[in-house]
Amino acid sequence: MKQFSVAIDGPAGAGKSTVARKVADFFGFTYVDTGAMYRAIAWKALQDGVDINNEQAITALAESLHFELDPKGIRVNNLQLTDEIRTPQVSTLASTVATMVGVRQVLVKKQQEIAQIQSVVMDGRDIGTHVLPQANLKIFLTASIEERAMRRYKELLHKGLTADLKTLQEEIRHRDENDQNRVHAPLRQAEDAVLVDTTNRSLEQVVESIIQLCRHQMGVME
Ligand code: CDP
Ligand code: CDP
Repeated sequence: MKQFSVAIDGPAGAGKSTVARKVADFFGFTYVDTGAMYRAIAWKALQDGVDINNEQAITALAESLHFELDPKGIRVNNLQLTDEIRTPQVSTLASTVATMVGVRQVLVKKQQEIAQIQSVVMDGRDIGTHVLPQANLKIFLTASIEERAMRRYKELLHKGLTADLKTLQEEIRHRDENDQNRVHAPLRQAEDAVLVDTTNRSLEQVVESIIQLCRHQMGVME
């Protein structure tokens, strides 16, 4: 079979990364977490004291970073990044750097290069619309805002951290609005994407239905 690509987009907490990772593992494809790249830039800017609103400086920072895919998270300039890029502060700042056209150009190029040489399941906000417009399968994953906030809440509890559900919901709502209303590559369902609402569905059910959709598309390719 030729290389196969699956694009998974959707709002925060819809289950994109969890589902994408499982589908990639099932088929032996590479999972590409594009959100981690935007998060890593925001985190590095914080570390180095770069002004997050200075588009030129943030774009130069994005150009200077070397990203490597890693099963545990992402490696940036040889540094493994995991929980430090998942804080609410980094989430919000990632959404700010993601509005910058220069940053998007740098990352989209890197993401397209990865998909040229291997089969991928790639998740993000603009994968079906901009990064992989020719993807073999496009999924738009969503769930109600209450459900998405509750999932994040449970994740934090699981890590032994406390959180306020209302604050989490507000953070997600604000980030979704930012992502949907920005000028460059806003979060949109691609016309040819399959809408999957995960609100009342288990992770296993969602993964199974996407595996079936992949199999169907693979059959079409043969
Ligand atoms: O990547 P995204 O922000 O879209 O979501 P995630 O980081 O994968 O988080 C989703 C959380 O909801 C994880 O803890 C999943 O186990 C859980 N979950 C899910 O992804 N899908 C369901 N149908 C039910 C729960
Ligand atoms: O896991 P979660 O859905 O909360 O966020 P993420 O996928 O890690 O993405 C963090 C932020 O990066 C998003 O809120 C977007 O602003 C931005 N992003 C983007 O603009 N385009 C992508 N392809 C991926 C993420």
